[in-house]
Amino acid sequence: MAAGSPELTIVLNHPAAESYARLIGERFPQVRALVAPGTDRLEQYIEEADALLAFRFPVEVFDKAKRLRWFQCTGAGVDSLFPIRDRVGHITVTNARGIHGDVIADYVMAGVTMLHWDFRRFLREQADREWNPRFVAPLADKTLGVIGLGSIGATIARRAKSAGMTVVGSKRDVSAPVEGVDELFRSDALEDLLPLCDFVVLALPATPETVGLIGAAEIARIRSDAFLINIARGNIVVEAELIKALQTGAIAGAMLDVFEREPLPKDSPLWDMPNVIATPHVSGAPTNYTERMFPIFADNIERFLKGQALKNVVDLARGY
Ligand code: GLV
Repeated sequence: MAAGSPELTIVLNHPAAESYARLIGERFPQVRALVAPGTDRLEQYIEEADALLAFRFPVEVFDKAKRLRWFQCTGAGVDSLFPIRDRVGHITVTNARGIHGDVIADYVMAGVTMLHWDFRRFLREQADREWNPRFVAPLADKTLGVIGLGSIGATIARRAKSAGMTVVGSKRDVSAPVEGVDELFRSDALEDLLPLCDFVVLALPATPETVGLIGAAEIARIRSDAFLINIARGNIVVEAELIKALQTGAIAGAMLDVFEREPLPKDSPLWDMPNVIATPHVSGAPTNYTERMFPIFADNIERFLKGQALKNVVDLARGY
């Protein structure tokens, strides 16, 4: 390579592209960072990119990304790549796993508490100045099931255990125990796991195999006094079936951070169901995200420059 020419060109296709470019500039003068926060300039820059940083892979410019060898996803889920999954074998895909677990576990435990105590009802009663005491079981009497025990799911499991709950969970590989999980199920044994749970938490990646995983049959295995919490992807659940179950009382309620369509359409019945807490895909978004994520990215830039194996590589066939 000619003296002075960059050793690596990275396109930053992200709303925080300027901040990432500044951090790269401070640490890696030999790296050329091309800032393309939106679609402007992306088509032109992507042709020069050895690497790409983005939350969602911009599949519309994939055909122009002839030099691309590395995609660093700023989030956990790499489902944006699935439409071109069979064509990206030459690209190393890495994600930001490790920075989401704590804040998502905060969200899940808040949801568990709010749903279990029916805080929506307390808030309605407060607004009406109604004094309506009732008994509530301690969480230690309850069972929480985590579907998907990756980095995020395992953090949720530990947190639920520390709240005194019985914790069950499922994952593909059950050969080793998972800290905090009392009973481990294989991912194809959901029908046995679901009826045990007072809270079912979805923490698995969306892959062609998991899309629609929670349909009518699985929802029917969730008890009528149990709650569903989804912090994964909306399309893992067949939303129409979930809405039906929530409307008929087939399940007790839900806390949903993700939806089949986002933003959640204004006319979705989920907005105003009394047994639903709906939030705008926020559970895995800790403050100072760029600064929390950058050490993973920087470590990988260093590795890429040295020709070493990258960290947080995602196996696209598994989705994590
Ligand atoms: C957010 O949903 C992520 O995948 O990081």
